[in-house]
Amino acid sequence: MEKIKKAIEESKRNQVATSPVENEQAVVSSKPSTTAAQNTSSIVYEQTRVVELDPEHLAKNRIVSFNKNDHLSLGFDILRTQVISKMQENGWRTMAITSPTQGCGKTVVSINLAMSIAHHTDTTTMLVDFDLRRPSIKKYLGLPSGPSLNDVLSGDASVQDALVNPGLDRFVVLPTSMPVKHSSEMLSSQKVGNLVQEIRDRYAERIIIFDLTPLLGTDDAMIMLQQVDCVLVVVGNGMVSNDQMTETMRYINPDKLVGTVLNKSESKQSNGYYDY
Ligand SMILES: Nc1ncnc2c1ncn2[C@@H]1O[C@H](COP(=O)(O)OP(=O)(O)O)[C@@H](O)[C@H]1O
Ligand SMILES: [Mg+2]
Repeated sequence: MEKIKKAIEESKRNQVATSPVENEQAVVSSKPSTTAAQNTSSIVYEQTRVVELDPEHLAKNRIVSFNKNDHLSLGFDILRTQVISKMQENGWRTMAITSPTQGCGKTVVSINLAMSIAHHTDTTTMLVDFDLRRPSIKKYLGLPSGPSLNDVLSGDASVQDALVNPGLDRFVVLPTSMPVKHSSEMLSSQKVGNLVQEIRDRYAERIIIFDLTPLLGTDDAMIMLQQVDCVLVVVGNGMVSNDQMTETMRYINPDKLVGTVLNKSESKQSNGYYDY
């Protein structure tokens, strides 16, 4: 644990966002926000599919930031402030979220952070599921079937066809429905390079978050890191060995590191968040 703390300390010198997220069962108690389609004062998504999310399903999957009044979303709001400030400072628009190993909480953090940005800033956030081995954004949000990144990659749909607005203004998702075979080859292909470029150019005003695979064990995340402006690392408390943490930090360009999140932490400070 000491080495992990040291590695995170090291990363902290280059970044601002070290915002652990508390280990509590998420409870979304109130009704979902009005959807973009229903609320006349909201943005109306004419081309993008609008999907209404089920608060109970979100709660089960620890998606707490859909309801901006949920007290559990506070941790993500703090993280959002730090991340946005660092991104603006550096003119960054595309951010990868990765971790040393599987199960650290990348997808949970990606979704909650994207929702927090959508709630509290004027910037539209696009969340892209680029974990082609274990895509789970669609499952965690409870999205219905429809065109996805799989169809975009196979040439059967456009990005616009596959985008979904989950009933929250300034938030769009590009889901992945199923694992992609030979994902490393796919991610290093010209097709994906062009796609990332297209997303960047076409949605120039947006913040784009890529949910990735873990860094250790496969090349997938490393390939994608070359294509993004910056990276946020999620570390699951007690889930990563000292050596794994050190190796992970070695793969990341410190100039691109936004920060490190300690997820699933058990120790609490008075405000419910933890620091090093
Ligand atoms: N802060 C947390 N406390 C407890 N469990 C969590 C927390 N964050 C995520 N989880 C759970 O850990 C599991 C893995 O999370 P996930 O986001 O899918 O990880 P990854 O995308 O890194 O593989 C899920 O069951 C998720 O609900
Ligand atoms: Mg995941």
